[in-house]
Amino acid sequence: MTHILAIDQGTTSSRAIIFDGALRPIAMAQEEFTQHFPASGWVEHDPSDLWTTVAATARAAIEKARGTRIAAIGITNQRETVVVWDRATGLPIHNAIVWQDRRTADLCASLREAGHEPMISARTGLLLDPYFSGTKLKWLLDNVDGARARAEAGELAFGTVDSWLIWNLTGGAVHATDATNAARTLLYNIVENRWDDDICALLDIPMALLPDVRDCAGDFGVTRADLFGREIPILGVAGDQQAATVGQACFRPGMMKSTYGTGCFALLNTGERMVPSQNRLLTTIAYRLDGRTTYALEGSIFVAGAVVQWLRDGLQIIRSAAETQPLAEQADAGQEVIMVPAFTGLGAPHWRPDCRGAIFGLTRNSGPAELARAALESVGYQTRDLLEAMRADWPDAGDAVLRVDGGMSASDWTMQFLADILGAPVDRPTVTETTALGAAYLAGLGAGLCPPPEEFAEGWALDRRFQPDMSNDWRDARYARWQRAVQAAMVAI
Ligand code: G3P
Repeated sequence: MTHILAIDQGTTSSRAIIFDGALRPIAMAQEEFTQHFPASGWVEHDPSDLWTTVAATARAAIEKARGTRIAAIGITNQRETVVVWDRATGLPIHNAIVWQDRRTADLCASLREAGHEPMISARTGLLLDPYFSGTKLKWLLDNVDGARARAEAGELAFGTVDSWLIWNLTGGAVHATDATNAARTLLYNIVENRWDDDICALLDIPMALLPDVRDCAGDFGVTRADLFGREIPILGVAGDQQAATVGQACFRPGMMKSTYGTGCFALLNTGERMVPSQNRLLTTIAYRLDGRTTYALEGSIFVAGAVVQWLRDGLQIIRSAAETQPLAEQADAGQEVIMVPAFTGLGAPHWRPDCRGAIFGLTRNSGPAELARAALESVGYQTRDLLEAMRADWPDAGDAVLRVDGGMSASDWTMQFLADILGAPVDRPTVTETTALGAAYLAGLGAGLCPPPEEFAEGWALDRRFQPDMSNDWRDARYARWQRAVQAAMVAI
């Protein structure tokens, strides 16, 4: 039988999932790796950890699915994270600077003050925030000894994590990325689909560093024969949120998904129209197939599942993420504890890298249960912030159903609160491995093994619909309280 290997290189772990010909997951392997926090607000990964965990989990998954023939590989990845390596040796010049890293906040502020944001937004769809790759890449060139001279001499290569993996998988034969990952760098002109010379010049980035940009179901070369016993073609690549959009079959304009991983990222398909946001959302590429670009509006929240990790590892009031919902259900209904989990600043629609977390409404009776409930509710409130902005940018979004996936979507309590606070239906599919599914589908499409998008969409199956079940008064009062809490957290800085 013919199978597809999806590689999902995420922020805290690498996963490999094998899908059968009907795109059902049949084998999986996962490995976590070390997070490095060298200074306040800095987050790094060792690029060799990213590569070795990917190679090991891919081998382990293939081993588990013994006897299967892998026809194609699809890659999906944490986006924006920056790796720079030497083209001759393949060795990174520094740790990867992760999307969550805030070290370029001052640089972004000075570029904004100098009036560059409107031009950058119009061309890239993004904002001047340290989240994106461009200023991180500039930081590496400015701070690693000799890096700029080596970059100018063409000795170095830059990539988001997909490029770094493709380079290693192909033994250095291919230096490429796909349009969705390129769209997150701050260097890619999504109107004209090319690297932007003016922005590269503004950030002092030699264009010799940049990878070739290909379609999501494009040809990204073949793996080294010694890795998996034979050469396997890499035929699908997309950033993880875009892969989830594909896996959720959000192919028509107006369809929207929200993925609850480390952060939460909501994408609204806007079709072939690039919709500039008036409400501090991002405009991005949802996918590019056969040279045709489909755009999306995106709302990015930096802390969703990470707030549960904090309850577990920081506060130590739960032992596993699964304990959060039962604990939250025990919370005192009379207390109104609100948590603003701005641990690494606030993303959309506020974009305040300097903001930090806050908890409001504590009483002598507040304890682990009230904190757990506040943590889960914060995810719903933040999603409502995004939906409000989307409704303002794209009036039809008002009628949209939200398709959810990612770890937290397994919590019925959290999804019901989400539907209640949004005042919109929330649909959870039977397959919640949508990120890996999207990557597998793209690779299958590239290999000619999968049907076109409309046909694939027919296979999307509903597990459960959460209908809003609270009055408008309840919703408005709760949301107004959240908005006051966010304002207070921003003022407290
Ligand atoms: O933009 C960052 C995003 O791609 C990270 O996703 O699931 O690894 O938290 P995740």
